[in-house]
Amino acid sequence: MADFTPRVFSGMQPSGDLHLGNYLGAMKRWVDMQNAGTHETVYCMVDLHAITVWQDPKALAAATRELCAGYIAAGIDPERSILINQSAVPEHAQLAWVFNCVARMGWMQRMTQWKDKAGKNAQNASLGLFAYPALMAADILVYHATHVPVGDDQKQHLELTRDIAIKFNHDFGVDFFPETEPVIEGAATRVMSLRDGSKKMSKSDPSDMSRINMTDDADAIANKIRKARTDPEPLPSEYVGLAGRPEARNLVNIMAALSGRSVDQVMSDVGGMQFGQFKPQLAELAAETMGPIGAEMSRLMDDQAEIDRILARGAERAREITAPILAKTYEIVGMVGSGA
Ligand code: TYM
Repeated sequence: MADFTPRVFSGMQPSGDLHLGNYLGAMKRWVDMQNAGTHETVYCMVDLHAITVWQDPKALAAATRELCAGYIAAGIDPERSILINQSAVPEHAQLAWVFNCVARMGWMQRMTQWKDKAGKNAQNASLGLFAYPALMAADILVYHATHVPVGDDQKQHLELTRDIAIKFNHDFGVDFFPETEPVIEGAATRVMSLRDGSKKMSKSDPSDMSRINMTDDADAIANKIRKARTDPEPLPSEYVGLAGRPEARNLVNIMAALSGRSVDQVMSDVGGMQFGQFKPQLAELAAETMGPIGAEMSRLMDDQAEIDRILARGAERAREITAPILAKTYEIVGMVGSGA
């Protein structure tokens, strides 16, 4: 494979209610990758993906700005990373059209997210929801991104991204798009509901007690952790001892991810504890970490003009990367007339 600049891309939907799963499974790891300084980093709000299901226009605009505030509050620095809203960088949608013509219907039909979201009512789902993964591949490949940090639920979409890159390269006889590596690592790639350890923590769960929102204050966080479902046994001193105890395992994973320790280190500290002793420690740690982020988010939200300036600047920087990659793609495909 050709040599590609080490570059990270990742994104999140601006559909409201950011939660601890988004923070630990994605944002916190994006910040670590930014700070490591080994890769260029591009982080995106994917509003074009959000509208694959109905979004009230005012709410979408507010959620996009809120998400931008969330990224910055979590530690993404708009100088060191490129921070963008997807629709402001038109090359994403332009490359997605080319990929709509590379990807096969059968590939899309196999996507579990499509099956879950469209359900039995597929005939009534938007065409955009079906084509969603081709736009996601375009998001990544329009930067020739080499690494994509995500939670576990995005794995299948990243495999499809590689399939699209391979088929494009093969069909046109080029070595143009990289085979991007998913980065799904750490204790929190799948944060579970606080009420049911078999379900993912999610904004669509009707119970607010099932998740810690990034905007929850310290009292709300402590209350949710106190009421989190557990079992009557004390904590074991080894991680394997949590097999068959999904709620306990989830809380241990959350503690490890929040404190930046391995699960084994956490187990050696908390082994033998009852939940009555463990939960207040976790609540304190969660409130210490999440509280300031929520407060900083609301402070940033007070200056929308500044958020809009940051996004406009991000789009400008992004297009320095995406415009030449799209122009070259068009040339490979045989499209003329753009003057490129
Ligand atoms: P979205 O908006 O559903 O989620 C954003 C990120 O948060 C992670 N995540 C979780 N991680 C751990 N535990 C959880 N309970 C949890 N819930 C959510 C997700 O895995 C994801 O990393 N299709 C993507 C957005 C997207 C994208 C991209 C991502 C569009 N284009 C290109 C990467 C690269 C999505 O809907 O994520």
